[in-house]
Amino acid sequence: MTSTVLPTALTTPAEAPAGAAALAVALAIRTDLWADRVEYREESRWTSLLEPADVAHALDASLHAELHDAQIWLLSWLPGQGTPLHDHGASAGAFAVARGTLTERVVARGTGPTARQSTADLVAGRVRFFGAHYVHQVVNTLHEPAVSVHVYAPRLTLMNTYRVDGGQLVRTGTERAGVDW
Ligand SMILES: [Fe+2]
Repeated sequence: MTSTVLPTALTTPAEAPAGAAALAVALAIRTDLWADRVEYREESRWTSLLEPADVAHALDASLHAELHDAQIWLLSWLPGQGTPLHDHGASAGAFAVARGTLTERVVARGTGPTARQSTADLVAGRVRFFGAHYVHQVVNTLHEPAVSVHVYAPRLTLMNTYRVDGGQLVRTGTERAGVDW
């Protein structure tokens, strides 16, 4: 992996969990920790929890405090697989692309008449970090499988799904956190 790893701030500094981003990147580049475990599933994205106790030995000691409250997911994405537009409830966190490219669409909650939206392709080595209630959609829009590492703190408990209607963010549902967001 040769990409420069620079967290991209999409939240205010007070909300930005930079430690989660550092943890996500550190795990993403340690392919030896997870490459043998990754599966790809045609029916849906594949997910697996990485237990903090299983990865601590591979991390710099400065990241051990980040592990304490973190929930860490490893995800794989075949071309075309993705999430709906969603948030992570009260959880903040980060995700790093470990293999392939993922396209992220971000919809900012604002006070203006129209929700601000942006879309970016994130190649392996890129990381996003976010505060609570960040709304995004992640899809593998390209032609190669992708893998990503997601860190949430506190652990995910629920997620809201959304659509953009008339320029406004409209909540369409709430789901208890399962396995693959
Ligand atoms: Fe998400």
